[in-house]
Amino acid sequence: MIVGPGDDAGIFILKEDFLKTGNWALVETVDIITPLVDDPYLFGAISATNSLSDIYAMGGRPLTALAILGYDPCDFDTNTIKEILRGCLSQLELAGVSLLGGHTVEDPEIKFGLSVTGIVSRDEILRKDGGMPGDILCLTKPLGTGLATTALKAQKLPEAAFKEVLSWMLLLNDKARDAAILSRAKACTDITGFGLLGHCMNMISDKPVDYFLSFEKIPKLSFLKDLVKSGLVPKGAYDNLNFCRERIITELDEDSLLILTDPQTSGGLLFSIDPENLPVLEKTGIFFSVIGEIKKGSGRIYIK
Ligand code: CO
Ligand code: CO
Repeated sequence: MIVGPGDDAGIFILKEDFLKTGNWALVETVDIITPLVDDPYLFGAISATNSLSDIYAMGGRPLTALAILGYDPCDFDTNTIKEILRGCLSQLELAGVSLLGGHTVEDPEIKFGLSVTGIVSRDEILRKDGGMPGDILCLTKPLGTGLATTALKAQKLPEAAFKEVLSWMLLLNDKARDAAILSRAKACTDITGFGLLGHCMNMISDKPVDYFLSFEKIPKLSFLKDLVKSGLVPKGAYDNLNFCRERIITELDEDSLLILTDPQTSGGLLFSIDPENLPVLEKTGIFFSVIGEIKKGSGRIYIK
C-alpha cells in the first residue's frame, strides 16, 4: 500500500514478480452485517473475518479492503467507531490485507462490513456447483453461530459457550482455502446466511446430483441442542428450512433440522473433493469433518 486512508482513494502496488508466476484474475466481494455482540472491537473483528471469507471461498487471496460503516452519530460516539475499526484492522493484519480506505453513511441501525479485493489464479477458482458424483463433502467449522448469538442477545448464553462461538467466528478461512486447493477441491462455498442446507442447495444448483449428509458427522457447537429445545431459534433458521424443505429427504426431527438451517456468520468452508485426496487434506492439519458425499441424482438432500 503506498496511499492509505485519508487521500481521495487508496493505492496498492501489485508486485510484478508475483503476477508473472500465474494466470491471475481479480476477485471482489462486499458484505455488511449488523452487530451480533455488544463489544464494538469484537463486532469489527467478526465482520472483517466474515467479509474476507467469500474471497477464500472462491479460491482467492484477499489483498485490499475498503470499510463501509452505517451509523447514527447521535447514538454512537467516535470511540465506539474507533473500536470497530481497531477490531477490523486486527483481523486484516492477520490476513495480510491492507485497508485502503472506507466510507460512512448515516443509518438508523449500525452496520459494518468490507468490500474486499483479491486475486485468484485462473486454475484455482473454486465455483460452488462443481461437485461430481463420488466426491466427499468436507466442512471446516462447526454450525451454530446463529443460535448462539440469538441466545447471547437473550442473555442466555453461558460464558464458555460464548468463548467457543467467538473463537470460530474469528477464525479466518485462509488455511481452509489453502487446504481445499491442495486437496484439489472441485466445488466450494462458505456457510453463511442460508445455513448448511441452504448452501448445499446452492451448490447442487441445477446439477443432476444428490447430496447425502450424516447428521452425526456434521460438527456443531457443543451446547446447541439445549438452545434449540429452549426455543431460542433465529427466525432465519425457520425461513431457511421452509425454503429447503421440499428438497430434503430425512427422518430427523425439526429441532435437528433447525441446526442444519441455522444462519451462520463467518461460517466455515464447505467443499467437495475426490476421496483419494482425503490423505492430502488430513495432512494439512486444519479442522474439518467429512459430512457426506455426492451421488448421481435429481437435486435432493438426504440426511441420515
Ligand atoms: Co457474501
Ligand atoms: Co459466500
